[in-house]
Amino acid sequence: MYNHDKMLIKGGSPLMGETMVSGGKNTSVAVIPATILSDEPSTIENLPDIDDVHALIEILELLGAECEYVPDQYLTVRPKSINSHHVPFSLTRRLRASYYMLGALLGRGGKATVAYPGGCEIGSRPIDQHVKGLSALGATILERSGFVEAEAKKLGGADVFFDIVTVGGTINIMLAAATAEGTTIIYNAAKEPHIVDLANFLNSMGARIKGAGTDIIRITGRETLHGTTYTVIPDQIETGTLMIAAAATHGDVTIHGCIPTHMEALTAKLLEMGIQVSEGDDIIRVRAHDQHRAINIKTQVYPGFPTDLQQPITALLCMANGQSTVYETIFEQRFKHLDELRRMGAHIKLMDRIVLIEGVPTLYGAPVTITDLRAGAALVIAGLMARGTTEVYETAFIDRGYERLEDKLRALGADIHRETL
Ligand code: EPZ
Repeated sequence: MYNHDKMLIKGGSPLMGETMVSGGKNTSVAVIPATILSDEPSTIENLPDIDDVHALIEILELLGAECEYVPDQYLTVRPKSINSHHVPFSLTRRLRASYYMLGALLGRGGKATVAYPGGCEIGSRPIDQHVKGLSALGATILERSGFVEAEAKKLGGADVFFDIVTVGGTINIMLAAATAEGTTIIYNAAKEPHIVDLANFLNSMGARIKGAGTDIIRITGRETLHGTTYTVIPDQIETGTLMIAAAATHGDVTIHGCIPTHMEALTAKLLEMGIQVSEGDDIIRVRAHDQHRAINIKTQVYPGFPTDLQQPITALLCMANGQSTVYETIFEQRFKHLDELRRMGAHIKLMDRIVLIEGVPTLYGAPVTITDLRAGAALVIAGLMARGTTEVYETAFIDRGYERLEDKLRALGADIHRETL
């Protein structure tokens, strides 16, 4: 990426105080494309002010939609003026979620030409299940010259059985099926909070979706959907990142505006480490004073331990008391942060997909490079834990998925700022 600034973090300050979590990245990148399933305007609130949101707005504007975006306030999309179904690589390369334009454009008008997506390099990330599902709905799909060309005279409801639980695949089929003729049943569906949020959004547009959040989602297609106003849920992974940062610095942080039930897998693991976690309706408080116990983690689809928090908690475990293991079952190459943590003094081995971490008494600040979004979160957390100063390069990755992360951390007492290179 070679972007033009670096983050400087002087470790050792415990994070103390209150903070507010932003709207969810992975729900926002599904809900924004869904607005084009109607010709009427829709307004979305609580969107995080992050580059993935900005990139999707650029895509909608390129297609001809009118977008009125006030960061941290609202986005209103007026899709009526859309006059294209072609999404170029110059835009899709910026985020994985650009492939939701396939389902949304097919659902809107039966035609989509979308360049392959970019996004974090954490594995091969094929889209075979998306293709399988969209084909089942009656789309003809051609993959050539780096583009996916999809066309359907009329989308028809169908049974879609995913061979693997896929968040993106589930979302793409929901988008295309919402206006298909007849009923679609998705078996082996993903159950993440953002799947439920998308179903609620589509239902607020007049769609008829039942079962989101379970393995089986039933979608009865509607000819036309109407505009809506909707507030997206808070970000589950930012909440988890802030919880881990509070624990990593032996601090005392209360996170407002979150949904504690979304955090249960992480909360259980922090409690196992001896960290205090208490909950209110929409708050979580994390307190940590003593040495952390080493634990074992296995990433799973929701409601299991989320793969997106595997990298941040690996940083936390680098100074736990004893040997921890982290088994990454979702993405085969989500380990690029390990080399950077080793530069800071971590004792880590990788055996196939299992990370073996021998806790050390101290990490040391060092120059490190971010390779993907959640690796960035892991390195920031390690910098907060380390003795001395850590220089973090390629901070643009963080801006893709976290809304002003260092401002939030600085407000909690972290010694963190950016410098132009
Ligand atoms: C979404 O990615 C998230 N991204 C990821 O978050 C998250 O890690 C992932 O879901 C799992 O929760 C967005 O929501 C934009 P998958 P996605 O399809 O949809 C394989 C972050 O940090 N697979 O559930 O790409 C795939 O290779 C990002 O916010 C196929 O084999 O994930 C992976 O091994 C990183 N064929 C597994 O399924 C397919 O057609 C799960 O992938 C699709 C997926």
